[in-house]
Amino acid sequence: MKVLITAGPTVEPIDPVRYLTNRSSGKMGYALAAAAAKRGHSVLLISGPTSLEIPEGVDYLPIESAADMYQAVESQIGRHEIAIFAAAVADYTPAEVAGQKLKKTGDEMTLTLKRTKDILGSAREVMNFKGTLVGFAAETENILENARGKCLRKGCDLVVANDVSRQDIGFDSSENEVTLVYPERSEALPQDSKEHLAYHLMEVIEDVKAPH
Ligand code: PMT
Repeated sequence: MKVLITAGPTVEPIDPVRYLTNRSSGKMGYALAAAAAKRGHSVLLISGPTSLEIPEGVDYLPIESAADMYQAVESQIGRHEIAIFAAAVADYTPAEVAGQKLKKTGDEMTLTLKRTKDILGSAREVMNFKGTLVGFAAETENILENARGKCLRKGCDLVVANDVSRQDIGFDSSENEVTLVYPERSEALPQDSKEHLAYHLMEVIEDVKAPH
């Protein structure tokens, strides 16, 4: 099958030398891309900047900002049967990008941010994606409830929920512990390496039938 995977952080410029980003290393998304390729799928990995090697046999589309990622997904998703959104996409971006390096002025400065477009939330209604849609949910509290809300609101077949308040899993660690949240039920998986988990997630995702 053709599988699109988003991974890594986005980078939102403030001026020519400064930006806003987050702690995503890309490990979870890259592990999924590697697992999907090993399982014989044709994989497109759309990724923000990371220090990881591109997994063997995977097509790679690098992006920087949330707006770049939106455009890349919008142009590619129609060619795919499965879309998995593991990227940590900025929810807000600077309202204006300064053309020149910002100078120090007073003791405080205010940066105005504006909402980015929700890529996962646009997959069904805006991009008209009919395939299997898998989101991630990075939560620090009410994990199941929040993840189920995301699953239903965004038309996902499955949301992979992780607790990002823990240091030993989630952002920038080698392991993860996730709960699979379907529209009707959920299933907690044990903590494992991102590589093992990704392989198991791909087995699970292949079996999810998109009813769209
Ligand atoms: O990269 P690693 O260091 O390995 O860390 C892995 C991870 C913690 C980043 C990963 O497991 C994870 O949880 N990814 C989703 C992070 C996130 O942004 O979650 P969220 O709950 O804020 O967003 C929900 C979903 O909407 C996600 O699928 C996200 O990709 C998507 N999203 C969010 C905002 C936006 N503007 N567009 C989106 O598509």
